[in-house]
Amino acid sequence: MRELVISLVQTINGSYAQDSWSTGVSTEADFDYFISLRKQAGAIIIDRRTALNPALPVINAPGKALAHTPVHVLTESDPAQLSKQLAEVGLDYRAQHFTPGTLTQVLEAIESTSDTLVCESGPNLAYRLLDAYPGAELHLSLSPLYSRNAGSHFSQLEADLNLRLIDVRTADDQVFLRYAKA
Ligand SMILES: NC(=O)c1ccc[n+]([C@@H]2O[C@H](COP(=O)([O-])OP(=O)(O)OC[C@H]3O[C@@H](n4cnc5c(N)ncnc54)[C@H](OP(=O)(O)O)[C@@H]3O)[C@@H](O)[C@H]2O)c1
Repeated sequence: MRELVISLVQTINGSYAQDSWSTGVSTEADFDYFISLRKQAGAIIIDRRTALNPALPVINAPGKALAHTPVHVLTESDPAQLSKQLAEVGLDYRAQHFTPGTLTQVLEAIESTSDTLVCESGPNLAYRLLDAYPGAELHLSLSPLYSRNAGSHFSQLEADLNLRLIDVRTADDQVFLRYAKA
């Protein structure tokens, strides 16, 4: 079975994106970890919204490190329509249809240059994959940032705080983090 690493970063107020851009919730340390995962990737898996987000850099742009790494956009909707949308915006990503029942077969068969697949989707597809694929592992990175979003309580605040992590404890898969102002 292939290994599927699901990479997710979130802020301490629970945001997965800032203005639809996940880079806004990340820190330099998170970015370094993200790059280390990308270096292992034989293929990248993303969701439709992430694929079509014009604010995100093209994953396999010519001349970049992942220029020859297949990028698969997994969808439970119509893959033909998604292929058309990807072609319209000039993305060399492949639309792959899946259902929870076919996911294992789909992931075992998709083009990949190694047996490690790295998923850079948002939380919706991440959940789907964790639920249905036995080889999936979630790497959750928690950044010490508050993230402003339209509609959140922080939308009117700068929400900038320098926090220092002073303790980490775990009990029964729950993680307790203690922060103090730096
Ligand atoms: N923090 C992180 O680590 C991280 C990583 C990547 C992305 N993100 C952010 O996460 C967000 C996306 O993830 P999410 O899980 O929150 O997304 P979501 O909107 O909860 O779910 C995305 C899913 O909605 C479905 N969908 C239904 N109608 C759609 C439409 N008109 N257009 C696009 N998708 C539609 C798609 O599934 P079907 O195709 O199966 O219909 C798609 O996979 C983006 O804002 C992205 O920037 C965060």
